[in-house]
Amino acid sequence: MGLHLGDEAPNFTAETTEGEIDFHQWKAGAWAVLFSHPADYTPVCTTELGRTAVLNDEFNKRNVKSIAVSVDPVEDHRGWAPDIRDVGGTDLNFPIIADPDRKVSELYDMIHPGEGDTSTVRSVFIIDPQNKVRLTLTYPKSVGRNFDEILRVIDALQLTDAHPVSTPADWTPGNRVIVAPTMSTDDAKQRFEQVEEVKPYLRWAAYPQS
Ligand code: BEZ
Repeated sequence: MGLHLGDEAPNFTAETTEGEIDFHQWKAGAWAVLFSHPADYTPVCTTELGRTAVLNDEFNKRNVKSIAVSVDPVEDHRGWAPDIRDVGGTDLNFPIIADPDRKVSELYDMIHPGEGDTSTVRSVFIIDPQNKVRLTLTYPKSVGRNFDEILRVIDALQLTDAHPVSTPADWTPGNRVIVAPTMSTDDAKQRFEQVEEVKPYLRWAAYPQS
């Protein structure tokens, strides 16, 4: 059975391009983006890992560690790394898990037999510092992911953890937010700037500054 939001992200040990890791120890105190790709030396995957390397500073700023996984062996990951650098323009700066026995892929339900073979599809798990699964995405092999969207949802998760708010459709950082239904409009006016009640259940507020 697949993992649900709020479940504990299962721990595992695995060989990676940066040596053997215990997943929970490796991410201790940080958020993690654990994402699978179907295979090394393939075009879409090369662009995806290259993009993740380019965004490494953005992930670091948010206390997020990235880690990729595929069923290919670690020697293939290491051999492929220069191509990722050539295509993306940045050295591979995060680990890739080698999962030839499919231990991690099966633990996280990353293999979808209807998608053609026993390689992983493009799964994403955003996991918080308490090791809870906070967001999942699954893309087919033919469609590359949008890593700006992954950063956007991390920003939204971190904001809504810190304040009693939700984020509306197409929200981006800096834009107004929605006051949580558990907070009265009067209380919202004490706490937030520019509170506007457009419906009893829809109250806007300015982006929380602290
Ligand atoms: C790719 O990364 O380009 C790819 C990998 C597996 C299936 C389809 C595309």
